[in-house]
Amino acid sequence: MDIWKLFSLDGKVALVTGGAGLVGSSVSEALAEAGAVVIIASRDIKKCQAKAGELRKQGLRVRAEQLDITDERSVSDFKGRIVSEWGRIDILANNAVSRPMKRFDSPIEDWESSMKVNSTGLFLCTRIFISQMMKQNQGNIINISSIYGMVGPDFRIYDGTDMDMPPDYAFHKGGLINFTRYLATRFAPHIRVNCISLGGLFADQPTKFVESYNRRVPLGRMAKGDDLKGAVVFLASDASAYVTGHNLVVDGGWTAW
Ligand SMILES: NC(=O)c1ccc[n+]([C@@H]2O[C@H](COP(=O)([O-])OP(=O)(O)OC[C@H]3O[C@@H](n4cnc5c(N)ncnc54)[C@H](O)[C@@H]3O)[C@@H](O)[C@H]2O)c1
Repeated sequence: MDIWKLFSLDGKVALVTGGAGLVGSSVSEALAEAGAVVIIASRDIKKCQAKAGELRKQGLRVRAEQLDITDERSVSDFKGRIVSEWGRIDILANNAVSRPMKRFDSPIEDWESSMKVNSTGLFLCTRIFISQMMKQNQGNIINISSIYGMVGPDFRIYDGTDMDMPPDYAFHKGGLINFTRYLATRFAPHIRVNCISLGGLFADQPTKFVESYNRRVPLGRMAKGDDLKGAVVFLASDASAYVTGHNLVVDGGWTAW
């Protein structure tokens, strides 16, 4: 098949949880630019509407919806609305994240609240959409993980800043990479499940931190939104038809040392 046809997402229906956030915006944009109808969903409907409006101005097919992945009823009703309108869901990008825990010694309630979204909520959303994908005999899931699901943080990069990397993040991002493999083998051959482990995105962090981070990266800089678009469309499309259970690392070489 023609290579551009392999990469095309024409006619596909995609859901991006947390799709108006920093990373989610690039995931949503990439899927829509490749031809999919993209549903951007999070708890913050206003933010989703603003992002959807911005992408529609570029001629992309994008819809905003409200969704709380921790609420089984919310996810289930939401799936019902998607299926009654579009008849199917082809791509689920598990991107939403909640980061209530700030430090190693934050209150344990913050750990629990993190797990409720990042672990239980992600599982709930995945299970509900997989049931629909199994009915279709077809589906594609992309989990967004992080370099901190693969390696421990180099805490020296936070020296001289008030930034930190809390422990819950390593726990759920590491789990997500192996949960990807579990889903891939469990739901093959109908559903493909892959993961993207991303390095830090530049978002106007303190200069001292950015300089330390950049020194640590073989490619010499933090990620920008466009850096992940190719990986997203590759995994979402037939260009990766024989790829499942994979962890695609997009980190400028951070984990290659
Ligand atoms: N920003 C980075 O540098 C970076 C690096 C590596 C990986 N990642 C990963 O990228 C993904 C997105 O991170 P981000 O930095 O863009 O975060 P963000 O805070 O900008 O966006 C997170 C989104 O998740 C949504 N969300 C939170 N709780 C929700 C819930 N209960 N139901 C539905 N939506 C909910 C929020 O409304 C928000 O839109 C995460 O999985 C994160 O681990 C980010």
